[in-house]
Amino acid sequence: MADTAPRDGTTLEHELEAMLEIERFDPPAEFRRQALLSDPAVYEEAARDPQGWWARQAANLDWFEPWDAVLDDSDPPFYKWFTGGRLNASHNCVDRHVEAGIGDRVAYHWHGEEGERRDVTYADLHRDVQRFANALKELGVQAGDVVGIYLPMIPEVVVAMLACARIGAPHNVVFGGFSAESVKERMEFSEAKVLVTVDGARRKGRTAPIKATVDETMGDLASLQTIVVVRHAGLPDVPMTAGRDVFYDEVCAAADPVCPAESLDAEHPLFILYTSGSTASPKGILHTTGGYMTGVSATHRYVFDLKPESDVYWCAADVGWITGHSYIVYGPLANGTTSVMWEGAPDYPHRGIWWEVAERTRATILYAAPTAIRTFMKWGHELPARYDLSALRLLGSVGEPINPKAWLWYQQVIGGGRCPIVDTWWQTETGAIMITPLPGITSAKPGSATKPFPGVFADVVSESDGESVETGQGLLVLTQPWPSMLRTLYKEDERFVETYFARFGKETYLVGDAARRDRDGYLWIIGRIDDVVNVSGHRLSTAEVESAIVAHEKVAEAAVIGQSDEDTGQAIAAFVTLNGEIEGSDELVAEIGAVVAERIGKFARPKRIIWADDLPKTRSGKIMRRLLRDIAEGRALGDVTTLRDPGVMAALESQVNEAQAQEQ
Ligand code: PRX
Repeated sequence: MADTAPRDGTTLEHELEAMLEIERFDPPAEFRRQALLSDPAVYEEAARDPQGWWARQAANLDWFEPWDAVLDDSDPPFYKWFTGGRLNASHNCVDRHVEAGIGDRVAYHWHGEEGERRDVTYADLHRDVQRFANALKELGVQAGDVVGIYLPMIPEVVVAMLACARIGAPHNVVFGGFSAESVKERMEFSEAKVLVTVDGARRKGRTAPIKATVDETMGDLASLQTIVVVRHAGLPDVPMTAGRDVFYDEVCAAADPVCPAESLDAEHPLFILYTSGSTASPKGILHTTGGYMTGVSATHRYVFDLKPESDVYWCAADVGWITGHSYIVYGPLANGTTSVMWEGAPDYPHRGIWWEVAERTRATILYAAPTAIRTFMKWGHELPARYDLSALRLLGSVGEPINPKAWLWYQQVIGGGRCPIVDTWWQTETGAIMITPLPGITSAKPGSATKPFPGVFADVVSESDGESVETGQGLLVLTQPWPSMLRTLYKEDERFVETYFARFGKETYLVGDAARRDRDGYLWIIGRIDDVVNVSGHRLSTAEVESAIVAHEKVAEAAVIGQSDEDTGQAIAAFVTLNGEIEGSDELVAEIGAVVAERIGKFARPKRIIWADDLPKTRSGKIMRRLLRDIAEGRALGDVTTLRDPGVMAALESQVNEAQAQEQ
């Protein structure tokens, strides 16, 4: 029986509303008693001597050579951590656990979409990673060469990442939801030598022929020498180009089974992960080995209060995003965790599947995105109540602000009122969690990510003069370097400095989010200040979507905004001006959606397209998105006097009203 007795929906709704009035949730006494960290002195201790604190965290890893200096800050913002130290991420994730005699511990309870199950132990990983690392070497991959990875949520994705780490080849993982064109762009930017992909990817009972689609776009990439294909979906007749394409199982079978982990410099690049910024061209975030591994292992241990001998930890993200890199792969494996890995969607084969998997695996920790929580909330509390979720002891949230109502629902319905919630704020750039409660110490306030992790220094500063704002709203900045910070944008040092360190100087990292600090010093993340949209926790640039939309031959101009959305946090709304006398139509909406799906991925398709005869522009020709957001969200219009033609707004408003009348 589940811990949460089924209650009638209305009563529950009222209870939640009433609880919103309550400000703080202290760590439950039971939880605090057993927590790894329960003394608030840890915050002061780390603040007094951050380098000492981080050095102690780094010492939990296995180093082949000790470091000479914890931090080299001689050339900001190009910081170096643990200089002179040597280590290997794959050794830390796998070998040392096998050497410590826990090789038969399950690293992943993998659950496939069609009910398949595979338990992968640390010893299994050790065997497979060595073979694939040798196979990559046979294929000509050397330390420093980039390897692309475009795989679904299957254990081989972890093996591929660790095999790269083992030989010092930075990986460049592309989320499976991105289109083949996006993969190509990312392979081209990073000059990847090898791409590891799959015959087909399964999604809700259908199989997408990934290899065939990849072939259509990847043919003319000069740098790409080999495509390795994992046989997963059992597709017959996978197209293979002789001399370029090989099967994963075949190269692994032929490879030498022993591949010692390379001893790599602490600053050796571990991976590149492309993310969206203000412009259409994605940014290649570069993370290195020693600092990143220190950051992810320490945060994973303390934020999730991890007890590797007894916990079953489930991070329900995709490995193609930073959350997957840091909290499905590197953090959990470094800590010897047993994780759940789920291949599929939250509603296939049925809407209770997450809870079924949680019950079956006796999951103790769940880390998910608010968008998923809101979806479950919509499906009703009766569904999770059918399953036994009593093993859960801690819940996490990531990727976007969590609204208090969803927070409370998560806490009550999924956590049975006994689990602390850690609302974790961070970014691809930060590598690891930066602002979060410590579950045995910090009182939570629903909707606030609370305080910086020990050793992290965050501030809210005024937009106009950069002065610290004691209480109130401003720009979020990080004022001291931290080990897992991005080192640069791959091959774009200038853009790195310009994007993050131009506004407030070379020692202050501009996050790109607005935030509010309350009277208790708690931080509340408001959202992005740049043209980045967060749809279901997926980060997209408006410019990226606009350039895909204008690729349609009938489109003259497009302006994309993120509009508040109950389900997905933000949703993409596109204002589109068509060429000449062309009229908007449902077919055109579908066609534009298809172009976006092909160029970026299905998840980037606009939820709403608004036909516009003209777009509001300043006299210098800049589109005023703020006004478009006001219109789309039905707010009173702000100042329009700076517009070249204020009449445009009246026309747009009536077009939007007309469209809304039709929608109803
Ligand atoms: O706006 C913030 C939001 O997600 C952005 C980072 O996106 P990405 O690099 O894709 O990484 C997402 C997973 C770490 C941030 O700039 N964000 C992330 N976590 C939170 C959040 N907003 C509010 N609360 C959070 N907990």
